[in-house]
Amino acid sequence: MLSKFRRIVVVVLLLSCAVLNAQNRAKTVDAGGHAWWQHAVFYEVYPRSFADSNNDGVGDMNGIASKLDYLKDLGVDAIWITPCFPSPQVDFGYDVSNYEDIDPMYGTLADFENLAREAKKRGIHIILDFVPNHTSDQHPWFVDSKSSRTSAHRDWYIWRDGKVPGQPPNNWTSTFGGSAWKFDPATNQYYYHYFYAQQPDLNWRNPAVEKTMFDITRWWYKRGVSGFRLDAVDILFEDPNLKDNPVTGGRNAYGDAYQEHKYNTKLPEVHQALRGLRKVADEYNAVLIGETWTKDIAELNLYYGKGNNELQLPMDFLFTTVNKLSPTEFRKQIAAINSASGWPTFVISNHDIARSYDRYGDGQHNDDIAKLMASLYLTLRGTPILYYGEELGMKTTVPTRREDVKDPIGRSGWPKEKGRDGERTPMQWDESVNAGFSKATPWLSVPPTAKTHNVADESKDPDSILSFYKKLLRLRHTNKELLDGNYLPLNQNDQKVLSYLRVYQDQAVLVALNMSGTPQRVNFELKRNGFASARALAATGKSSSQGDFVTLDPYGVFIGQLER
Ligand code: GLC
Repeated sequence: MLSKFRRIVVVVLLLSCAVLNAQNRAKTVDAGGHAWWQHAVFYEVYPRSFADSNNDGVGDMNGIASKLDYLKDLGVDAIWITPCFPSPQVDFGYDVSNYEDIDPMYGTLADFENLAREAKKRGIHIILDFVPNHTSDQHPWFVDSKSSRTSAHRDWYIWRDGKVPGQPPNNWTSTFGGSAWKFDPATNQYYYHYFYAQQPDLNWRNPAVEKTMFDITRWWYKRGVSGFRLDAVDILFEDPNLKDNPVTGGRNAYGDAYQEHKYNTKLPEVHQALRGLRKVADEYNAVLIGETWTKDIAELNLYYGKGNNELQLPMDFLFTTVNKLSPTEFRKQIAAINSASGWPTFVISNHDIARSYDRYGDGQHNDDIAKLMASLYLTLRGTPILYYGEELGMKTTVPTRREDVKDPIGRSGWPKEKGRDGERTPMQWDESVNAGFSKATPWLSVPPTAKTHNVADESKDPDSILSFYKKLLRLRHTNKELLDGNYLPLNQNDQKVLSYLRVYQDQAVLVALNMSGTPQRVNFELKRNGFASARALAATGKSSSQGDFVTLDPYGVFIGQLER
């Protein structure tokens, strides 16, 4: 079976070399032509919930610094910290009131600089979360903008007259519920906010806004930041004529009529802004990761840009839309991302979506399924972004009472939309009180599973999810096939086992993932294809290989080096 793939291997190798060459444009690359972020493992830290050094119930910079050795040992090369700038915290930092400082709740700029220094010593890059689309309504720019129709910053935001007195300029709704326009009685106009009313959208058609935002990224690069995750980049521009969006029928959790966001998202002007941000990033050999909710690869390719001159790592999120263990669906998505014009990124969960433990878990084999999912996104060609706690098997723990909800959309959308608190609970460090996250009551309660799924206990258990993550990440860093090899799907009609090869030159690694609850035995016809055996590199339970066959436990994993 392998032989018929050989010709394809050569073609795929040549093609991917061409892509890499275009991509790297004589930047700092390794001997194989890879930029640093292509081989790096990224880890998303939600700073409120990671580690609380001053025991006020909220995590902080010094807390993150104290866990760098843990991250290094895990196999992390870069951490993306969600917004840690001064903010009224209406949207937990995604409402920025000063882009060039650290929120006192998280520490000081000096604490950040210490974190960056300590991270650098360990070879870990720091990525910050840049929020270019909107600020807080408490940002001095907006305070000035709102103060009068003639203020210096009036045109930094999007102000419009009502359609008729008492009616917003158009039918656009906020993604967090209600109209996207808020009336300001003092100046008798409405301002536009795609998210909460406390998050007014900046006017990117104003060159002063664009220049200021570019300069802010420069300011952080000079302080040792290696790149940004760009928040909500697909909505930077709106139709200047403010055309009404088409209404598509039905109502969402907030009671608003569904609409197609045709005139306020994904406008072509976005790409010019991204090219500008990329130009600055290139001055610092930095990486741009994008929150780009693309519907397909054609749309994703737009964000890589022509000749890869926009985002190096636009997140396609396509894995997060596969909410069942379906080899067919995953095969489809992997093939799609491999056909993209840039380097793939793999994400299976983040601070806005339920954790993978629950999305894929069947309630009985969740720990095995967590290892299965880890084996998938950590053995593919591309850059994985791990969400904190995924390596422990942390569970989404949704509040059961409305009064406990912290995320405002959970309060306004209750009970249909319970908000995102469930995936933002404190990191589970040990079995002690508050899971070792803080000595004070944490801002969100620690889930009961902290007793069974925590760093201290899992570090001692060779069969834990954490130990398996460490093993996979060690492999990823050392095995050339897993790093750079091409992806070749095997047994494409198998409905239970997802299997593929990663091929680099004349070496291959076989990955076999049983996505079913029954044991499986798969014939890979190794001998006929010139291989004597598959030597286990990582496997779960009793999953193993003998001769041509791989035997897999329910939800079992086998990863093996093919030997001649
Ligand atoms: C992004 C963030 C999300 C935030 C929103 C508004 O989608 O990931 O957490 O609420 O932007 O800034």
